[in-house]
Amino acid sequence: MKLFCFFLLVCIQTFDLHYASDSKALCLDGSPASYYKAQGYESGAKNYILHFQGGARITGITQNELIYQAYMRSKTKLGSSENLSKQADFEGMFSRNQKKNPYYYNWNLIHLNYCDGSLHQGYKSEPVSFMGTSLYFRGDAIVKSFLSDLYMELSQANIVVISGCSAGGNAAYFWIEYIKALLPLKVTVYGVPDSGMPLDLVAIDGTDYQKESLIQLIDFVNEEVTHPNKECVHKFSKEKWKCYYVQYLLEFIETPLFIVQSLYDYYSLTYRFKVDCALDYSLNNCSQEELNFAQNLYKQNYEILTKRKQDHPETGAFAPSCLEHCFLLNDYYDSENWEVPGESGNTIQVALNNWLNSKSNPENNFYVDDVQWPGNKKCSNSDINNYSTIFNLIILIILQII
Ligand SMILES: *[C@@H]1O[C@H](CO)[C@@H](O)[C@H](O)[C@H]1NC(C)=O
Ligand SMILES: *[C@@H]1O[C@H](CO)[C@@H](O)[C@H](O)[C@H]1NC(C)=O
Ligand SMILES: *[C@@H]1O[C@H](CO)[C@@H](O)[C@H](O)[C@H]1NC(C)=O
Repeated sequence: MKLFCFFLLVCIQTFDLHYASDSKALCLDGSPASYYKAQGYESGAKNYILHFQGGARITGITQNELIYQAYMRSKTKLGSSENLSKQADFEGMFSRNQKKNPYYYNWNLIHLNYCDGSLHQGYKSEPVSFMGTSLYFRGDAIVKSFLSDLYMELSQANIVVISGCSAGGNAAYFWIEYIKALLPLKVTVYGVPDSGMPLDLVAIDGTDYQKESLIQLIDFVNEEVTHPNKECVHKFSKEKWKCYYVQYLLEFIETPLFIVQSLYDYYSLTYRFKVDCALDYSLNNCSQEELNFAQNLYKQNYEILTKRKQDHPETGAFAPSCLEHCFLLNDYYDSENWEVPGESGNTIQVALNNWLNSKSNPENNFYVDDVQWPGNKKCSNSDINNYSTIFNLIILIILQII
């Protein structure tokens, strides 16, 4: 089976590497920025998904810390295109296998590789010298170069979906209005950001490192260019950091959104908010204080999504009450363990496809778990559920014996 899959993967490696043509569009290490593209065909020939790659961001309370992290990152694939293979293959929504991905297998699928370290935005015209190397902060120029290179085809498209996960989900929210404004009105643009909505909350230990380091990053890479959403920048000219939090940015996004987001985002809980008990993708080990923190996160996410739905009835969502981060480009995309509500048949794949095809019936296709953890049993990793499974099994055995 494994061998067969391996063989199949080799056979369907259909994403080719392309370099950005603008000579200013450079990764941290100075190599050219790049994207992977699979060419659409037949019914998918005029439909596109642009997916911003994720991979956190450089952090630091001082400029030196930021530069040091950028230097370390420049030695990896998240800061350089040097070692990227000429061809690649992706899973989930980017699978080219019609069986696994019946809706988008033949679309134009474009994976925008993340190599600027600053959330696909920011720009410094001068490189920064560190340890004998030059570091380039060019996220803004990279995205603009991609859009310019792809403009001819995107402007003739029927549908363009702007997506991305984690830091790339962030970028999808940041850039969507810019991209929508760039394209002719006849092109239908949708946003499908995945796990890109970290909340503006103080961590459980009372610190707010994420915001402090975000403000430091903005000071560093946004002197020469602003955040891409100009309306937001205008409104929050004295609190620029707010445009980097989706909860404040959403009111400046008019494009229809299908939001994919765990209500207990794993990366936020463990890494940003330091709720360490959640490291095993459950809340089994958590103290009452930690549980309260997690349930508050659920409540805030739930409120942000339902408010968006009230203000923009066309909004769709897939938001499970389980601990995860990033869904679209992996097995969760069509897994029966990931349905909202639990065991309803609404996988991400089903929900997203219904939404994209439901312009006449926008009230549907908003799947936000009404139950808190561990109410959505199949994805909760809950001990309680496992105990009840074992309990049921024992009853069954006893009944058999009798
Ligand atoms: C690329 O691969 C070479 C050889 O393995 C390695 O020395 C180098 O550090 C890699 N560079 C990046 C940016 O990953
Ligand atoms: C949860 O508790 C179990 C048993 O008490 C322990 O073995 C495990 O390491 C804990 N997990 C975490 C993430 O703390
Ligand atoms: C519960 O059971 C499932 C499979 O039955 C397993 O994958 C999961 O790790 C279990 N969770 C815990 C917390 O033991």
